[in-house]
Amino acid sequence: MLFQWSGRDWLVHSPAKLNLYLEILDRRQDGYHELETCMVSVNLCDTLRFRSHPDRLTLQVIGGSGVPGDETNLVIQAAAALQKTTGFAGGATILLRKRVPAGAGLGGGSANAAAALLVLNRLWKLGLSHGELAGIAAGLGSDLNFFLESVPAAVCRGRGEQVQPVRLPRVCHFVIAWPHFQLSTGDVFARCQVSHRAITDFDARLANGQIRLHNRLQSAALRVRPELAHLATEFSAITSQHQMTGSGSAWFGLMPHRRAARRAARWLAGRQCVRDVRVAASSY
Ligand code: C5P
Repeated sequence: MLFQWSGRDWLVHSPAKLNLYLEILDRRQDGYHELETCMVSVNLCDTLRFRSHPDRLTLQVIGGSGVPGDETNLVIQAAAALQKTTGFAGGATILLRKRVPAGAGLGGGSANAAAALLVLNRLWKLGLSHGELAGIAAGLGSDLNFFLESVPAAVCRGRGEQVQPVRLPRVCHFVIAWPHFQLSTGDVFARCQVSHRAITDFDARLANGQIRLHNRLQSAALRVRPELAHLATEFSAITSQHQMTGSGSAWFGLMPHRRAARRAARWLAGRQCVRDVRVAASSY
């Protein structure tokens, strides 16, 4: 997460994430799943601009193809949660330029909301501690806490809200493509199978420079939208190191270097099942 203060506005670049590893350990009483996942933030970013307003809270979304600017947007929910917690009565004018597609498992909405929590806490001079912000983030969604930590990579546990930063062995280069449809996180989790096997050796493998891709939600997503298999087939022609991110629908390939990622992106851009494609790198 990158923050810039212009003297009047806060400008924030909120990143997308990829799940390198995702395992489902248990189904919980509250309807959520206990998981263990390694998330990495990448330089595919949305941009948010925050300006103080005496009483009105507004969000304008540019380029989000259908992303709402109303109270269903997590950014507004994050701002409202801050107001409720502190009793703060002021407002803000927020402009969100979307580049990260919604419903793609890239965490764009969660990153936007985490940015709102961090920036509005400063802009409104609320003085909430990082722990207090983390508590609010966990109440808004499962991926917000990863973005709130602003770390390049982390293993996340619980519902996803327990974040333990990890160090990637190198800068990773990715090609990311998404199809013409979105996937609902709830629908995909509802069809997933629990494995009960924790990642015992993930950290050790990372320390040895190995990145092992795995996503337990992938087979569930393929049951929800069998057409997703076309995207998997296209990636298989490029690299054996590929998979879906989060609950989908975006797919990514881990590439040996930036040139290979660019070449793959050019090839994927011409495929019928691909709506859009980007190259991206992990922050290191
Ligand atoms: O927390 P978030 O809003 O991202 O989750 C959306 C939905 O995904 C939840 O309502 C739940 O059905 C499912 N989910 C889950 N286990 C998780 C995270 C999400 O079952 N760890």
